[in-house]
Amino acid sequence: MSKHTDSHRGEREEVGHSLDEPSSGTGLGADGRRTPPGTFQSASTSHCQGIEIDGLRHEYVDQYSGEIVLAIDDLNLQMPACEFLTIVGPSGCGKSTMLNIVGGLVKPTKGTITVDENPVHGPGRDRGMVFQEFAILPWRTVESNIGHPLEIMGVDKAERRERVGDLIRLVNLEGFERKYPHELSGGMKQRVAVARALAQDPAVLLMDEPFAAVDAQTRITLQEELLQIADRTRKSVLFITHSVDEAVLLGHRVAVVSRRPGRVKATVDIPFALGDRSVELLVKDERYRELRDEVLDLVRAEVDS
Ligand SMILES: Nc1ncnc2c1ncn2[C@@H]1O[C@H](COP(=O)(O)OP(=O)(O)OP(=O)(O)O)[C@@H](O)[C@H]1O
Ligand SMILES: [Mg+2]
Repeated sequence: MSKHTDSHRGEREEVGHSLDEPSSGTGLGADGRRTPPGTFQSASTSHCQGIEIDGLRHEYVDQYSGEIVLAIDDLNLQMPACEFLTIVGPSGCGKSTMLNIVGGLVKPTKGTITVDENPVHGPGRDRGMVFQEFAILPWRTVESNIGHPLEIMGVDKAERRERVGDLIRLVNLEGFERKYPHELSGGMKQRVAVARALAQDPAVLLMDEPFAAVDAQTRITLQEELLQIADRTRKSVLFITHSVDEAVLLGHRVAVVSRRPGRVKATVDIPFALGDRSVELLVKDERYRELRDEVLDLVRAEVDS
């Protein structure tokens, strides 16, 4: 059942609408409210882009002992434009290192990354990052946090207000515009971080365990919201998680990374349209369960060996 990318766009289209055509489905909020479709359109102009990782290797040098830690070796991955790709693998196998290299925050020892065929040499507006820690500014309100990247980009006040309003609706934070981070729940803070990353209108969203720090129920809500957001905004998403369930629920495809030094051991296609997915479906659908077991076996083999 493990397959590589080329067949996968065709499969996706068999089971639902094409990824190039955002569904007209609506987004579910934390309180069950639905977001009107298309609210993000005025804020999103970039088209999703593909990522290619070729022969990636990364060595860290321990600053005390001088010992070299080989985190990643010969990691190759092709991610087509508009794909939601989830990455699972044992702790310490180099997932965050890989994401930071794609984000341009870490320079690899060897190998190349291209986004839409342009080599990555550092951070860029084409890649928005969301981390596990809530990376938002404590002294700014929700709307000011979300508008911050737009300020940096020099977007004028009127347009900023409109785009921030769109983003606030998209991540279901209406009514919280003037609140400060300390007045928000963990799930709300992470919504602000997602909206901030989307504000720069990136072609690719890079997410490193973004929902790991929230409670189980909030996590489900955020996962389902993210599915709707990815479906409607046409972003490519590279999403790292420890959870096999989360990887299978969210990804068009799951890439399993080997134990350190990390390389992509296998990829598994999850042929369900994003807009049609829910945690309920994952639990009930036999095909979903089989795919989850397949990914689980691949990950377990790395942890146990
Ligand atoms: N700045 C650093 N200096 C030295 N070694 C590092 C550094 N960052 C990471 N490492 C090492 O590189 C390896 C890969 O780390 P990385 O954080 O990429 O793993 P990971 O797969 O994201 O793990 P987790 O699932 O626990 O988040 C680990 O052995 C880690 O100890
Ligand atoms: Mg990590």
